[in-house]
Amino acid sequence: MEDEARVQVLESRSIFLPDAIATRSLGITLGQRLPIGSTLLLEGDLGSGKTTLVQGIGEGLGIRGAIDSPTFTLVNEYLEGRLPLYHFDLYRLDIQAAAALYPETYWDGTEVALGIVAIEWSERLPYRPSSYLEIRLTYDADAGRQATLSAIGQASTVLDALSGS
Ligand SMILES: Nc1ncnc2c1ncn2[C@@H]1O[C@H](COP(=O)(O)OP(=O)(O)OP(=O)(O)O)[C@@H](O)[C@H]1O
Ligand SMILES: [Mg+2]
Repeated sequence: MEDEARVQVLESRSIFLPDAIATRSLGITLGQRLPIGSTLLLEGDLGSGKTTLVQGIGEGLGIRGAIDSPTFTLVNEYLEGRLPLYHFDLYRLDIQAAAALYPETYWDGTEVALGIVAIEWSERLPYRPSSYLEIRLTYDADAGRQATLSAIGQASTVLDALSGS
């Protein structure tokens, strides 16, 4: 509760995603522009486009291999792009199992090289980094599909760069 109350949303942007190409191209822009050490917490229902977004991020980072959802491996590491990409999918995990992955060793870069961390089903995390980008993918019968990006804990230059897109 206390932690929740201290969470500070510094900026927020919503972007319409009329089709899967739009989701992917938002990811490409993020992959090109995200600074080292960025953590993206992805939230949204089954099939809302989380993996599609991460595939775009991989493309924007210059990762050539295909990015699949790390359903069985829990975290996939891609080291050949502009920055390392660590892609988590916590769908099958409860909070204790998610804690056992020690996600902070990725977002703090203590056991691996610092890069970009993207976490699907981040609702399952037992704790969060001190600053991160929350990306909520939603569907509304009137508005259609949308991504709402919020910078938590620290302002994001990426959000400024996304305005108007
Ligand atoms: N903006 C969009 N409009 C329409 N379809 C989309 C959009 N973004 C992604 N899709 C499509 O939705 C399907 C599910 O996408 P994706 O696998 O990325 O979702 P997900 O959130 O990762 O799902 P899961 O919860 O199973 O991990 C894919 O076929 C994808 O091409
Ligand atoms: Mg997925």
